[in-house]
Amino acid sequence: MKTIDDLQVAGQRVFVRADLNVPLDGETITDDGRIRAAVPTITKLLERGAKVIVASHLGRPKGAPDPRFSLAPVARRLGELLGRQVAFATDTVEENARATVAALGDGEVALLENLRFNAGETSKDDAERGAFADRLAALADLYVGDGFGAVHRKHASVYDLPARLPHAAGDLIAAELSVLKKLTEDVKRPYAVVLGGAKVSDKLGVIDHLLEKADRILIGGGMAYTFLKAQGHEVGGSLLQEDQVPAVQDYLRRAKARGVEFVLPVDVVAASEFPDLKTKAPGNPRTIPADAIPADLQGLDVGPETRKLYASKLADAATVFWNGPMGVFEHPDFAEGTRAVAQALLDSPAFTVVGGGDSAAAVRILGFDENAFGHISTGGGASLEYLEGKTLPGLAALED
Ligand code: 3PG
Repeated sequence: MKTIDDLQVAGQRVFVRADLNVPLDGETITDDGRIRAAVPTITKLLERGAKVIVASHLGRPKGAPDPRFSLAPVARRLGELLGRQVAFATDTVEENARATVAALGDGEVALLENLRFNAGETSKDDAERGAFADRLAALADLYVGDGFGAVHRKHASVYDLPARLPHAAGDLIAAELSVLKKLTEDVKRPYAVVLGGAKVSDKLGVIDHLLEKADRILIGGGMAYTFLKAQGHEVGGSLLQEDQVPAVQDYLRRAKARGVEFVLPVDVVAASEFPDLKTKAPGNPRTIPADAIPADLQGLDVGPETRKLYASKLADAATVFWNGPMGVFEHPDFAEGTRAVAQALLDSPAFTVVGGGDSAAAVRILGFDENAFGHISTGGGASLEYLEGKTLPGLAALED
């Protein structure tokens, strides 16, 4: 895989596919981690005299312009972080984008509007995606893939465009790969994995793979209730994916046979209602045993005994990978489980990787110093699919 050091970029129009898909509350960016992660590659290219065209998706608009998913707030934040003017193109491949790119001087940067405002970006039809990639290719001379968070998507700007332009991987992708390789090749043991988040169905592939790799798997978040149910416990009104119970039972059986330790919550913080995340009104939390959640309560975080248990399981690990919050960390009454795991990672001498998405945002929103963690990935789904050993389209496209 070539890097940007292999490209002659001075005076060239360089298309940088970044992942600037950040959480927004209206026009306010609630976590700018992904924008900050994109800055080093863009800066390097600008300093080398490139005309830099940055492009990204934001959210999941339906293939047409939708102001709720505009990248305009991201352009402003990117300009602040780069300390220079970012020209914002109000479309992606139309007249405004062409004019904005044509006006770029050497060492200047533009951000295109959301790639997913075009149906061709995410189309399953190769020809439709290819046609959109042709239009993107017409804007640039060179391609730099640096949107690690999107490399698992077979999308026009990620997969088809690099085939049309001389290309290289940006510094963020190179850094992510060097870290994630340490989790797949020659991993230092004990290797503990903490998985949380809402849906067990999103994690099936990675659990399947980790059964062959990890020594301990700690489960929290909404997905824990499907595990508790699979063990025959009542989960009350907690999030439950009933259809996944047989798959989870199979995992528990296989883990036992292989000597992989599955660690489940022993107590949970529950409430009768899901908390209001906007007003943060008191959530009336109650700590109860995890093996008998009454019908009128739902588990919303792991309890204090579980936090201690998980910290002890992480304390002597040599490698830790964490993906997914332990509870509804956006509300202070249900944030302690996620905070405890983040703290346990900080306290541990292990090589620690926080796998993107919500867990990375949680670390920052809960006020931890992100530099204190071994590595915080910008890729949620992408890091999980990498660990599953899948071929990621956006990385395969950069190989040739
Ligand atoms: C992410 O947030 O994981 C990436 O930006 C990919 O977004 P997507 O799941 O909407 O493709």
